[in-house]
Parts: sequence; C-alpha cells; structure tokens
Amino acid sequence: MRRKLVAGNWKMNGSTGSIRELLQGILGGAAEVAAVELAVFPPFVYLGAVEQQLSGSAVIWGAQNMCDQGSGAYTGEVSGSMLNDFHCTYVIVGHSERRTLYGESDQVVAQKFAAARKVGVKPILCVGETLDERERGVTEAVVGRQLKAVLDLEGIGSFADAVIAYEPVWAIGTGRTATSGQAQEVHAFIRAKLAELDPALANKVRILYGGSVKGSNAAELLAMPDIDGGLVGGASLDAKDFLAIAKAGC
Ligand code: 13P
Repeated sequence: MRRKLVAGNWKMNGSTGSIRELLQGILGGAAEVAAVELAVFPPFVYLGAVEQQLSGSAVIWGAQNMCDQGSGAYTGEVSGSMLNDFHCTYVIVGHSERRTLYGESDQVVAQKFAAARKVGVKPILCVGETLDERERGVTEAVVGRQLKAVLDLEGIGSFADAVIAYEPVWAIGTGRTATSGQAQEVHAFIRAKLAELDPALANKVRILYGGSVKGSNAAELLAMPDIDGGLVGGASLDAKDFLAIAKAGC
C-alpha cells in the first residue's frame, strides 16, 4: 500500500509573515489528515524559518530545486548538503518551469536527481508534456525520454527512495486539469516503464499528479489506482484549500 503524499510547491510566493500564517493553518488541520503525508516546498530563503516552525510536527518540508554540483564557484546556486543542513526530506527536480524557463535539459535534471541522492535528500522527479506535444500524440515519448535520462544515469534502484510527479505542462497554473482518466493513463505508463526493469519496485514508487489540483477535483484524481498524491501549486498557498486536497486523499 502506497501512502499518499500531498506536496505544496509554493513556487516564488510568500513572505515571512504570510508563511508563518499559512503553516499555522496547515498545522491546525494536519491531525485530521494524518493518513496522508503532507509536505511543503518554500523558496530557499525561508527554509530555516519553515524548519523551525515545523520541527516535531507531522508536516515535512523540502526545496524546489538544487544544484547538480556539490560546492564551489556556482554563484546563486544551492547544494544538496545545504538542503541537508535544513533537514529537507525532499527536493523537487526537473519542474517544468525549471526546464522551460531556465533551460534545464533531461541530462541536467538527471544529474540533480543523482546529486540529491548522493546526500540523502529524496528527489521528486517531475515529468510532463506540453500542449503541443500532447496534440502531436507524443506524450508517452516525451515522458519516457525524461524518465530514461534518469534511469540511464542512476538505474532503476535509485527510484526506491524517489517520487515521480507527472505534471502536464498545459495543466499547470491554467485551471485546466487533466481528467482523471488522462492522468491515470500516463501514471500507468510511467509505472509500466519502471516495471519493465523491476516490477516489485515499480509497485512501491509513488507517482503524484500535478496541474491545477484543487479541493473540488482532488478526490476524483486521488481515487485513481496509479495516482499516489498531488504536487499542488496555487491551491497550496491557502491552508484550507491545501487541507481539503489532503482530506480527499484520506
Ligand atoms: P498549479 O497547481 O498552480 O497548477 O501548479 C502545479 C505545479 O506546477 C506544482 O508543481
């Protein structure tokens, strides 16, 4: 049985005050959704404050990105060992906004995945096709290629501690959610790809759906057999909305 994970990717949002309030709200309702693993992903600069507020609670935290290098002359970057200093459980790698706005290739994403594992931070690998790719019927080819880059570098065993997030780019921040059927189809494809290499492990890997998840559509999505949680953007900035999504996964 895979425990569901509901993860809030705050992207570049929040302030010291708003984050304190948001976490108070989440902590207030966390006990009611204890069946689900809850995680938040603040911007780097707030990790210390988030750690302080969440330490000892059931809510865990992680980072939205990291550098593929260990240390050195990489101005503006943050390493995996720095994330460890703030006791991050997870790090998101290969979010579509990193891939499209900051030019991260499949290879760089795979190197980030490897760098995270090296320091014991669990990677959440994001994959997903653009609208153009979906309309051209190459969704599986794209997702398969993104997955293969990591499998080639790190091997199937590396997914034992990793999470995958399927985020169709056309559903991110658009209010346009993939139907539960569309999402399930790609999730099943991802699991089948892993199962070709290790069926037992494939059965254990959590695959999250991301893209305009909200309280009103979460129950249907999270009820699908291969959807093991959500990677939530906009709705994770409101404690009530975020908890409603988690409740749908209980
Ligand atoms: P939205 O939930 O705002 O569509 O964002 C999804 C996402 O990109 C989470 O990583």
